[in-house]
Amino acid sequence: MCGIISYCGTSDAVPILLDGLSKLEYRGYDSAGISILSENQSPLTIKTTGKVQELRNKVATLAPKHAHCGIGHTRWATHGQVSEINAHPHTSGFVTLIHNGIIENYHEIALKLAEQGKYPVSQTDSEIAAMLISHNYDGDPIKAIKRSCEELEGTYAFCILFADHPSEIYCVRNASPLVAVSTETGSYIASDMTALIEYSKDYFIVPEQHIAKLTKTGIKLLTLEGESKEPQMLHASWDAKSAKKNGYPHFMLKEIHEQPNSLLTTVMPRLKDMNISFLEEQIPDSLFSDFTRIVITACGTAMNAGLVGKVLMEKLLRIPVAVETASEFRYGDPILDERTLVIVISQSGETADTLAALRLAKERGAKTLAIVNVKGSSIARESEYVLYTHAGPEIAVASTKAFTVQMSALYLICGKIGIIRNLFSETFKSSFLQGLLNLPKLVEETLLLEPHIKEITHMLTDVQDSFFIGRGLDYALACEGSLKLKEVSYIHSESYMAGELKHGSIALITDKVPVVAITTNEETFPKMVSNIREVKARGSNIILITDQDISTCADIAEAQIPLPKTDALFTPFTVSIAVQLLSYYASVHRGLDVDQPRNLAKSVTVE
Ligand code: G6P
Repeated sequence: MCGIISYCGTSDAVPILLDGLSKLEYRGYDSAGISILSENQSPLTIKTTGKVQELRNKVATLAPKHAHCGIGHTRWATHGQVSEINAHPHTSGFVTLIHNGIIENYHEIALKLAEQGKYPVSQTDSEIAAMLISHNYDGDPIKAIKRSCEELEGTYAFCILFADHPSEIYCVRNASPLVAVSTETGSYIASDMTALIEYSKDYFIVPEQHIAKLTKTGIKLLTLEGESKEPQMLHASWDAKSAKKNGYPHFMLKEIHEQPNSLLTTVMPRLKDMNISFLEEQIPDSLFSDFTRIVITACGTAMNAGLVGKVLMEKLLRIPVAVETASEFRYGDPILDERTLVIVISQSGETADTLAALRLAKERGAKTLAIVNVKGSSIARESEYVLYTHAGPEIAVASTKAFTVQMSALYLICGKIGIIRNLFSETFKSSFLQGLLNLPKLVEETLLLEPHIKEITHMLTDVQDSFFIGRGLDYALACEGSLKLKEVSYIHSESYMAGELKHGSIALITDKVPVVAITTNEETFPKMVSNIREVKARGSNIILITDQDISTCADIAEAQIPLPKTDALFTPFTVSIAVQLLSYYASVHRGLDVDQPRNLAKSVTVE
């Protein structure tokens, strides 16, 4: 949510900032801006509404002189509408800054500054932060930052230029992420590694309430008191190629096709000698042996992975599992204790609501285990234990490969608990592990359906509303399918438990409302067929996603996506591919911006 990048070095800052912003654009894309600083000159700010391409055009027209120091921002509006004046960077006196996060007490600070005749020109909380730092500035950047941090409440990652310190950039953060890279050509800082990976794979995460000072010769990590600190270096296990489209028309399609590999790299290293091992991540077996209930908390697609985990775990482990939306979790006064295992799921590891939920779980004494894709992210660092998914960077705003690897991590955890607690027979254990081993192949096979799915998605091109229905695991996938479709195609979509539709919502079914029916469970198949007939009788066109034999009821669907046959426990992996491709092509057929749907952002770092 908002992407930020800064550079100080021997190269020209402008192309570095613009390229970095293009890579960070998935974090927010309603406006963008840069400020560059040259010796003996005040910062030059260029900003505009619209995407980074608009900014590039504006920069090309103004053709600024080479500068070796600069900051850049791509915005996802929180305070104040999308306008040039609200776009970052914001300047106040000597201070020019970019901000990712939300200043919660900006109103109080604004009133205090107003008493001294200082008023903002924009409607943003970020400009108030710039004004506060400027107000606290007496020539010493560190002192001004420290004083301001003491007053600011909320989340922030700031990169700050001080006009009278032309070859330096000061950065500080609270909750919102900042990663730093230093090379022979200069110092770089950004919201995430996708913008920096082409410069180096070695990086560090700026610790909260610490200052990173960028100069041409390197980055100094300082406490708010100005004392030097040694950064903790990390190494990215992916490279610049992973953050490019590699011939695919969209990141979303590329990431859909990457799933066999991401499942392989997530599952394989944990399967050893017919067992599940989390030794590398130092998760002790004792974590899984004595809790009495599980709570899964997450947002968006990650939460839908949790819904799959719940059905699976309750079925195989007979342990109660609750799935809580992270944004509601902390306000619902959740019942947690040391006998509760809280599993937190997040691709980015930075989602503010999920982070807050994790902190609450820890506060209440629950054991915490995070499933995270981004190494070293806030959730990964704060959780007691972490099980990383190895999907590589996910750039499309709509999550695809992160979802399937999150599910696979939940399967691994479920398998681990079952084995440790002796809940599985030898035969079941080996078929379960075999099922996990088989996932990459299964997904590969499902991907072969792409041309067929592309074709039938034309049924969705002109509709305004739709339903996804299913039961059990299929219902969890209906939730994910429906979310995916609406976020990339803007078709209003609801997910419903198939049996529940008749208690009200069936009133919405007409011949203009197609229903995507997911039915992979043999046991509930006859009931699903009845539910499908109920909506069909009301005029709906059906897209049926199934691995069942429909020869006795072939007339129930206008189109069918025939999934490869697999063990009933593993169908979420085949269904995922079908609903992802369905949503992708619905967006493509409607001519929309697949990778950057309107109003969304990939990493939601505000509550
Ligand atoms: C945003 C994204 C979703 C994602 C959700 C949770 O809403 O658009 O795709 O599922 O955040 O993100 P996380 O990084 O915590 O998995």
